[in-house]
Amino acid sequence: MKITLSKELDSKQDVLVLGLFEEDKHNYKFLSAELSKELDEAIKRKVFERKFGSTHTSNAPPYKKTLVIALGKKKEFTLNCLRRALGKAVKFACCSQYSSLTTNLVSLAHSSKKWKDNDLGRATAEGLLLAEYTFKKYLGKEKKEKLPELHTAALQLESAAPFADGLATGRVIAEATNFVKDLVNEPARVATTEYLEKVARSVASQHKTIRIRVLHAPEMKKLGMGAILGVGQGSATPPSTIILEYHGGKGKWSAIVGKGITFDSGGYNLKPTKYIEDMHTDMAGSAAVLGTIKAMAELKVKKNIVGVMAMAENMVSSRAQHPGDIVTAYNGKTIQVGNTDAEGRLVLADALAYTEDKYKPEVIIDLATLTGACVVALGYYAAGMVGNDEALQTALEQAGNDSYDRVWKLPFYEEYQDWMDGSVSDLNNVETKGKGYEAGSITGGVFLSKFVEKARWAHLDIAGTAYIPEEGDYGQKYATGAGVRVLSYYFLQD
Ligand code: BES
Ligand code: ZN
Ligand code: ZN
Repeated sequence: MKITLSKELDSKQDVLVLGLFEEDKHNYKFLSAELSKELDEAIKRKVFERKFGSTHTSNAPPYKKTLVIALGKKKEFTLNCLRRALGKAVKFACCSQYSSLTTNLVSLAHSSKKWKDNDLGRATAEGLLLAEYTFKKYLGKEKKEKLPELHTAALQLESAAPFADGLATGRVIAEATNFVKDLVNEPARVATTEYLEKVARSVASQHKTIRIRVLHAPEMKKLGMGAILGVGQGSATPPSTIILEYHGGKGKWSAIVGKGITFDSGGYNLKPTKYIEDMHTDMAGSAAVLGTIKAMAELKVKKNIVGVMAMAENMVSSRAQHPGDIVTAYNGKTIQVGNTDAEGRLVLADALAYTEDKYKPEVIIDLATLTGACVVALGYYAAGMVGNDEALQTALEQAGNDSYDRVWKLPFYEEYQDWMDGSVSDLNNVETKGKGYEAGSITGGVFLSKFVEKARWAHLDIAGTAYIPEEGDYGQKYATGAGVRVLSYYFLQD
């Protein structure tokens, strides 16, 4: 999608999108008397509510179609309201089979002077480009044709350099997010560990600043990564650890580590119907790692960031691991596999310990679709967060709120810290206290914490946010690309 800026609305575009704040009288008389009269009447008859998000559509000239979006009260209008309004605009134009629009939404937001131009530009690109996404690959010809692409969004705004910079940043972040949506939506038959390696190699090949290394099973065996090997041993596609070093500056490494289970059948603790179908999405953490590294390289962020994707498929076969097996992780700790379905923490155990040992990062953030308990606790609109460092978590909260890829801090009290201790091993991958399921997202984090020694560390459980059953104003049903925005905003801070 091309995004253009000009002082005036662009009369060459198909669709006109206008915003209207609750306290403003509409002043769109200059467009056409017909449109103005129609709007007056709709407001008078209260068919067009003035609260945020309600819309009025019109066929009155001068445009082929006009959409008026109520923006609510000025003081309640946020950057995310702007993303949402722009998302509505894009979806409306596409649904009406038009491929270009012009709008005053951005100039209205700009005139409030509440935000820096750069932040406004970023949110603008995100609203437009995230809304544009559809997972079309498997649609037949007829269905595909009904989803035209928007080729131009002409924004009314006196162009300012910081706004254009923000727009460019937002475009990179949104495109990386959409790239991750594609990976997560892809069925497990295609998106295997080998497929993700290929995609990661192709991302790396496009940037001189990215160096890729992949650990395959024989090497992981030599390194003593028994936990990830155990998870992957029942699959026809072998496990791997994909490492992407982004060299963007001087100084210490930051690390992002993602769970990459290309299908989570549960293993011998097999998942039941209604829980198993979506488990091709269990690699969303590793996909977000790849998307973030891609975005950081495109934005030339002046930091060194290593992305680690812990890849395996959790299947059932005569070679699969048994419930009760005991494996040894990279850091020498022994783990009893109390439940083969708690496999994410096993692959991350090796990945976290290896990453800390090799890169001595100052900060490690891991992302994982780790627990159903997190979906129960928080639903679809916040990732659960635990960690060992307050400042890091505060920074992630801020990045989450700003990007609207939100995270919610869970308690990580001392009392939880021995709940994953093993009886005949150092650790168990399921709780050995209580009834076995209490505070599942927190105790999942407790397990992971045993594989980080010195780094400032945070764990984001994206089980609820990565794949959702609801369409949003600028988001779609299914894969969301969760993690890319919060991490990108985090690395762009200061
Ligand atoms: N991949 C699942 C978690 C999940 C559930 C992700 C729903 C997305 C949506 C994970 O591997 C898992 O099965 N976790 C178990 C852990 C339990 C056995 C301790 C769970 O949450 O039930
Ligand atoms: Zn599982
Ligand atoms: Zn899983």
